Amino acid sequence: CKKLGIGLAGFGTVGSGVWNTLEKNGDLISDRTGKGVSLQISKILVRDLAKTRATTSTVPREILTTDWHELVQDPAVDIVVELIGGTSDAFEIVAAALLAKKPVVTGNKALLAERGVELFAISRKMETPIFFEAAIAGGIPIVKTVQDSFVGNQIHSFTGIINGTSNYILEQMTLRGIDYPEALQEAQDLGYAEADPALDVNGWDAAHKAILLATLAYGFPIDPEQIYVTGIEQVRPTDISFAKSLGYVIKLLAIVRERDCGAVELRVQPSFIAKNHILAAVNGVFNAVAVNADAAGESLFYGRGAGQGPTASSVVADLVEAARDLAHTSRHRGFLPYREAGTLVPIEE
Ligand code: NDP
Ligand code: HSE
Repeated sequence: CKKLGIGLAGFGTVGSGVWNTLEKNGDLISDRTGKGVSLQISKILVRDLAKTRATTSTVPREILTTDWHELVQDPAVDIVVELIGGTSDAFEIVAAALLAKKPVVTGNKALLAERGVELFAISRKMETPIFFEAAIAGGIPIVKTVQDSFVGNQIHSFTGIINGTSNYILEQMTLRGIDYPEALQEAQDLGYAEADPALDVNGWDAAHKAILLATLAYGFPIDPEQIYVTGIEQVRPTDISFAKSLGYVIKLLAIVRERDCGAVELRVQPSFIAKNHILAAVNGVFNAVAVNADAAGESLFYGRGAGQGPTASSVVADLVEAARDLAHTSRHRGFLPYREAGTLVPIEE
């Protein structure tokens, strides 16, 4: 049985979700990683060692640190997971991990949208991957879908509701008539919002994700200065009732569209959507990404776009992929793992 050590940078909403998921489903995950490989968090980076945490009782005190160098330099750490957010310290940690040839898993869309060009250059040079399923639409496996399932397609467009916080705020303002600051506070309390919630409501969190979608589909870096971004800050209850009276709802849409001669258009903006359109039913923390691709045609991906469990689910999926690479156990998709007979509930007469 081989143990792979994880250095977890960040132990907030998502980081502690990763800890909980590995605690709860460790055996199942190890089985699926292959050849008895188990994943063990061996170091955790936090800002404040004294903070009381829900997970405190199950986390050995000695694995917590406030010095990120320990995380990267520790020989017991094979994979680094960056979940601290921001683009400064996170950049240092990810770059140092790659330079130490440790694969990185991150949910940090701001980092990759703003500084991905530098980081993926290091990643290519060091032949060490960066996985980022959690960076776009929380628990929806859209990165793998674009990279793997749609590998044979030219993608014409993405139309997405990809910020859970603003979708939650718009829904609560519509359904309960509460005001914007109260709805934002709720989204923060539920663990949906960014540490700096300005990014959620000014459209930039969705824009970062749209930039990553565009790069996945078209392969070139996108300059954030060159895209159109408006958030929901200016949406007032009167706008919502006006939309309703005309048979529409307001959603923050992110649109990535192929234009003529290889050009790509990106925009994030509050938009009127007819109330019987499928995207009008995407409420609360749910996200949806509609993909229009030449061979597959129209597809819609729907699920929880933020929060502890869904985001940890994507991080753990990436961890397993990184672990399979390291342990050379890539297998699975062409094989069904029949083991022993299970119990099937009989059909009731
Ligand atoms: P939190 O604010 O809940 O947690 C951040 C964690 O990082 C905390 O444990 C904090 O330490 C630690 N930390 C922050 N800065 C530093 C630093 N400079 N040095 C050491 N430790 C630091 O954030 P989330 O868990 O919500 O988000 C983490 C990342 O995941 C972000 O990039 C976010 O965009 C992304 N993400 C979040 C989602 C969500 O639903 N919340 C969904 C998808 C992606 P301490 O605990 O001591 O304060
Ligand atoms: N703050 C983000 C959101 C987290 O609300 O969608 C998920 O990326």
